[in-house]
Order: sequence, then structure tokens, then C-alpha cells
Amino acid sequence: MLKLNQLCASYGKAQALENISLEVMPGELVAVLGPNGAGKSTLLKAISRAIVSQGTLTLDGRSLHDVATESVVGLGICHCPEGRRLFPELTVLKNLQLGAYLRKDKAAVAKDMQRVFDLFPILSERCGQIVSTLSGGQQQMVAIGRALMGAPRLLLLDEPSVGIAHRLKMEIFAAIRSIRDTGVAILMAEQDAQSALHIADRVYVLEHGHVAQEGTAKELAQDDRIRRIYLGLN
Ligand SMILES: Nc1ncnc2c1ncn2[C@@H]1O[C@H](COP(=O)(O)OP(=O)(O)O)[C@@H](O)[C@H]1O
Ligand SMILES: [Mg+2]
Repeated sequence: MLKLNQLCASYGKAQALENISLEVMPGELVAVLGPNGAGKSTLLKAISRAIVSQGTLTLDGRSLHDVATESVVGLGICHCPEGRRLFPELTVLKNLQLGAYLRKDKAAVAKDMQRVFDLFPILSERCGQIVSTLSGGQQQMVAIGRALMGAPRLLLLDEPSVGIAHRLKMEIFAAIRSIRDTGVAILMAEQDAQSALHIADRVYVLEHGHVAQEGTAKELAQDDRIRRIYLGLN
């Protein structure tokens, strides 16, 4: 579905992504792991066309480089960015509705709103609450919900668990898994390797802007050397 071949990107003279080759199949949950500064966010930004990149970047065989940046969402790629980027002074409901701003299919939008509430029941209770008054975990739920309101075929999640209390984190990972089970493909950047290996189908490990390791989550989780050197696990 999504295919990257030899993808490169830089900030000025500093190269941030170096010849990245990566694939996401329909309905797959793929994790991008790696330490701070490895290039995970840059990779997701390159895919959603928030930054310029070179090399092959295709969705269903069609080059995303030929698509206007603002049309990427219309193709079904929804990006839930690092730091959430919500509208903190607006209500939960308004933030969710903004995720659907390009859509004209009112009935389907209402259905997706219900789906978000089924996934995160607390958001239905907090519908009228101002987002800045929610906990970090609840705000992350709004961010994921907003991305779902764009009706993604491919959901890009940037560190959905960062800075979130353990219990909510588990809830969020379970929700991500169930989003995948509804057929949405997911590419998720994550620093919590342990949790990501639990829910992902396949994994890429980034290091200094290139792919250092890749494999199924099962293969990587069972490889002691990879666990120790690349994932910081015992
Ligand atoms: N806006 C930016 N301008 C310049 N350099 C950046 C910018 N964003 C990220 N970088 C650099 O690019 C590299 C990759 O960063 P990033 O993709 O944010 O990594 P990660 O998400 O894995 O922590 C880092 O060296 C970082 O300092
Ligand atoms: Mg990042």
C-alpha cells in the first residue's frame, strides 16, 4: 500500500533520512522504533508531505510527490503528529469535528464520530470540555480521534504513548490495535519498544536516519542482540 524506496530528506545541510526503504501492507500495524533524534518524526512528516523528500514515495503505486500537500489527507493518509497539535482552547467535540473538515459525507462523518466515542468512551463524556483541561492521555485520545475523523486508510501515529500514565497508555495501545483490526493500516513511531513490539506486526528500527534493523515484531522480540543493542531491552 505504502512504499518507500531510497527516501532521503534533510534540514538544510543536515541529512535526516538516508535511503529509507519501507513498506506498509493494507491492514498492517508497523512500528518505527529508535532513539530520540533517529528520524522517526521526520519520516512520518515526509510521508504526509509536511516536509520535502527525495526518492520513491508511493501510495497504491501512485507517487505522493506528485500530489499537492493539502491533498494527501484526501488520499486517506492522516497524520497524528508529535506533541498532538490540538486546539487547546476548543472543546473535544470541536477538535474532533476539525479532523473531518475536508469531508462532505455527513452520514459517514457522524458514523466515524460514533466510532471514536466507542473506541474512547471517556471522550463522549467529555465532549463539551475544553481540551487543555484534559489529562495528557485523554488529549492523546482526542488527537488519535481527530486523525480517525479524516477517514484514514493509512494512519501515521507519532509517539502516541509519550508522557502518558501507564494505565492510559495501555488503553491507547489497545485502541491502536483495534483500529488496525478494523482494516486501517498504521505506521507508528514509538520510543516504548516493549509496548510497540506487543502490538505491532512488523518493525523498523531507525538509527541516525537509516534503517538499522527490520523484521516481524516476533523476530525482533526474540533476538537478544537486537533487544539489547537496538531496543534497550533485556
Ligand atoms: N525542524 C528541524 N530543523 C532542523 N533539524 C531538525 C528539525 N527537526 C528535526 N531535526 C533533526 O533531525 C534529526 C531527526 O529528528 P526527528 O525526526 O525529530 O527524530 P525522532 O522523531 O526520531 O526523535 C535530529 O537530528 C533532529 O535534531
Ligand atoms: Mg519524534
